[in-house]
Amino acid sequence: MRFSKRTEWNTEESALARAHRERVAAGLPVADLTASNPTRCGFDYGATLLDALEDDRAQDYDPHPLGLRSAREAVCKYYADHSVYGEPEQVVLTTSTSEAYSYLFRLLCDPGTEILAPQPGYPLFDFLAVLDDVRLKNVPLVYDHGWQIDAEGFRRAITAETRAIMLVHPNNPTGHFTKPWEADVLAGLCREFELSLIVDEVFLDYPMLDGAEGSFARGLEGVPVYVVSGLSKIVGLPQMKAAWVIATGPQRSAAMERLEVIADTFLSMNAPVQWAMGRWLEERQGIQEQIRWRVQANLAELDRQLALEPVVRRLSVEAGWYAVLRIAAIKPDEQTVRELLDEGVWVHPGYFFGMPEAGWLVVSLLGPEAEFGTGVTRLLNYLGKTQEGKKWAMRLNR
Ligand SMILES: Cc1ncc(COP(=O)(O)O)c(C=O)c1O
Repeated sequence: MRFSKRTEWNTEESALARAHRERVAAGLPVADLTASNPTRCGFDYGATLLDALEDDRAQDYDPHPLGLRSAREAVCKYYADHSVYGEPEQVVLTTSTSEAYSYLFRLLCDPGTEILAPQPGYPLFDFLAVLDDVRLKNVPLVYDHGWQIDAEGFRRAITAETRAIMLVHPNNPTGHFTKPWEADVLAGLCREFELSLIVDEVFLDYPMLDGAEGSFARGLEGVPVYVVSGLSKIVGLPQMKAAWVIATGPQRSAAMERLEVIADTFLSMNAPVQWAMGRWLEERQGIQEQIRWRVQANLAELDRQLALEPVVRRLSVEAGWYAVLRIAAIKPDEQTVRELLDEGVWVHPGYFFGMPEAGWLVVSLLGPEAEFGTGVTRLLNYLGKTQEGKKWAMRLNR
């Protein structure tokens, strides 16, 4: 038997993952600064969360390829709360944003064609692209007192095979909101080269500063825009498996017709979740407020400890659940992360998100406050003892 080339992955457990697993199994302390599953972070979802699944209408099977109309109306209501007034005909429901991406790749790309994506970014994109035989071309974001797109980098990366530009707004893990000038530049490129824009807005409702940027579901003149989002972040319910695409712009009807056929081939949405979606979206403020408080509190704690022990630099962040830390690039981050694990704190190396191999760590701000505070103390104490921490402190204090 022969397997497909696209599934020729190295599935061996990495040395880091093994070290983590063994340390946890041995019962040794690990403060987890990578927590990203909101259902495991001590939030109060209310005792009646699952009542929404007991809708009698879910006993009937009457599928619509785009998803139940009432659920698509609930998605439109969510956008109306963001001052974007769409129609259910623009929405297709999926079981995850991953599935939404896959539908869009199949809609827009043939095998071997390309999609551009900013880097650092969400690590799953590589796998999603490979599975749909699409080539993912990364275009680096630039950091200069804040993250920004490299407009010329995008232009240079476009070829005759490019079909779309992907954006994460705000980005994960940089927390960068696409600014109006950046949207203008990208829209210009899309018009000039007949590209679509795919925008992932799962973190849209988690700005850290006032003046958050709006949703791309409002559309960009002359550009086919496909916004993807879903329940995993908006209502902190990744286990419910519900997401969507909302399509705007030229050829929208033709795109929706094709998306309908793709979705009809799978009919992957289940009825109880679709009937429950409206209520969960309506009640989203409860969980969103808790998450925003948590993220702000953990960021404030990180900054408080950093002020006392300035051995790394926290990069500016506008939104989302993560903070990016710059450390002196003296040795591979894999080694630093391993040494930190031995000190009882578990962080992401930046290369996990497409950053260089040395000089970058990423911490999640979502975990319980006490564990987060302990983790940061261990992180800073350890780096303060090392060559790189001492160098960095000298540089910052200069
Ligand atoms: C940018 C981004 N998009 C999507 C997701 C996941 O969404 P879903 O659970 O709907 O696949 C994540 C998860 O961390 C993410 O970071």
